[in-house]
Amino acid sequence: MNLTPVGVWGTGMYVPERVLTNADLEKMVETNDEWIVTRTGIQERRLASPEEASSDLAFRAAEEALRNAGITAEQLDLIIVATITPDMAFPSTACILQDKLGAKRAAAFDLSAACSGFIYGLANATNSIATGMYKHVLVVGAECLSKITDYTDRNTCILFGDGAGAVVLGPVPEGRGFRSFELGADGSGGPLLRSSGGGSRHPVSQEVLDSGSQYIYMAGNEVFKFAVKIMGSAAEEALRKAELDKHDIDLLVPHQANLRIIRSSLERLELSEDKCMVNLNKYGNMSAASIPVALAEANREGRLKEGDTVLLVGFGGGLTWGASVLVW
Ligand code: UT7
Repeated sequence: MNLTPVGVWGTGMYVPERVLTNADLEKMVETNDEWIVTRTGIQERRLASPEEASSDLAFRAAEEALRNAGITAEQLDLIIVATITPDMAFPSTACILQDKLGAKRAAAFDLSAACSGFIYGLANATNSIATGMYKHVLVVGAECLSKITDYTDRNTCILFGDGAGAVVLGPVPEGRGFRSFELGADGSGGPLLRSSGGGSRHPVSQEVLDSGSQYIYMAGNEVFKFAVKIMGSAAEEALRKAELDKHDIDLLVPHQANLRIIRSSLERLELSEDKCMVNLNKYGNMSAASIPVALAEANREGRLKEGDTVLLVGFGGGLTWGASVLVW
């Protein structure tokens, strides 16, 4: 079977206006700016308003991605939204977004792979275009993590922010586009990072609400160790599949969870900091939205040149991981 090369036609991003700084958090929990900055690299994050949901953020990011790609919403064949904070259990956030955009021809579904969700979405979209099933696919990572964050828990509330990033994928000339994907999961690590209240195991009840299990729980240290290991091995595996070497990388776009985790990946890949997109200082960890927002911001800043080799890599709840090599 002859596969069509698939690449990025356009990128877009949106973050809500409200800023929550480390100084604000000092007034809410027992923490301080110095601890947060040295342990995580985060200085501030954006928070959605009470009226804003993930599809509202996704809509703004998607509009920019469509403009940047030079196509209309009616030309979309498929919309994939990666999110762990959907507007509601159903209909999917992708269907809500399809309606907002007026993407009448597009099929639409949500994808749940936590912080790795955007890379999982790219892999699905790439396959569906490469085989000729679709031509234009919108992949969005959109999160309102503030809505499932416990702002009395200093272990988690300092980390998370809200935002959305989007890309339009389509056929590209030979030699460009996605060269490899490396996806993985280890469900046995699920309990380390979860929001368990409110699903079919523990439906919403007063007891669930009182226990706080609707909020994000994270065994930070365990997840940290897993992240350091898997970011390096997933990145190396994606490079091996693409038949490229770590020295071929022009830009690393990692999941924005913790600056110390990013630095350990840079060390393993023997990359200098100027070859890495970092924006967690401004936005914190936005789960599925982190990588597409970083990619869109790199594009806005002119850091992506035709022919550049870009490595995307992330990890998250599930546990899950994903990496991809892309020639811009
Ligand atoms: O997107 C994927 C999901 N998440 C992640 O990638 C996060 C991965 N984990 C991490 O980034 C880090 O584990 C954290 C930033 C969450 C925590 O950093 P750490 O270096 O692993 O700290 P720790 O959990 O081992 O805690 C060290 C100390 C503890 O005090 P004791 O027990 O040593 O007295 C904590 O209670 O720091 C304390 N601590 C805090 N102190 C001030 C925990 N949170 C805070 C805080 N402010 N916000």
